[in-house]
Amino acid sequence: MKLLVINGPNINMLGIREKEIYGARTYDGLIGYVKTVCAENGIEAEFFQSNHEGAIVDAIQGALGLFDGIVINPAAYTHTSIAILDALKAVALPAVEVHLSDIYSREAFRHVSYAGMACVKTVCGLGFEGYKEAVLFLKDYLVAQKKVP
Ligand code: DQA
Repeated sequence: MKLLVINGPNINMLGIREKEIYGARTYDGLIGYVKTVCAENGIEAEFFQSNHEGAIVDAIQGALGLFDGIVINPAAYTHTSIAILDALKAVALPAVEVHLSDIYSREAFRHVSYAGMACVKTVCGLGFEGYKEAVLFLKDYLVAQKKVP
């Protein structure tokens, strides 16, 4: 089972940006944490981060045929990007949306998630733990759907 973990704009600034919202741990710390979770659960994972919408669309398209599922935190593009929604729909790989913060208890403009409309689950407000929940959910989902041996 192979998952692609995609993070959008400013997630590379974790540990620097708005620590009161996103915490003091860094992007490298996040990747290390998710790598450990995946290794403990027999999951192969690759990681992609970009501040550019088109690059994220390209990464989603490139996942077709190579990955079984996608974990995605589209960051600010969550609330604006129909292109990312359409890319997720186009590849039709099971995807789980993650947000470090609870987008539903923040500003109203964060309450709409386009990407989430193409995802089988949304996890938000759990910080790094949310990625663990997403990965483990996707593993169970793929097994239950018989999409992996
Ligand atoms: C975020 C929430 C988004 O609203 C915001 O634009 C981000 C991060 C989160 O992980 O909580 O950049 O996706």
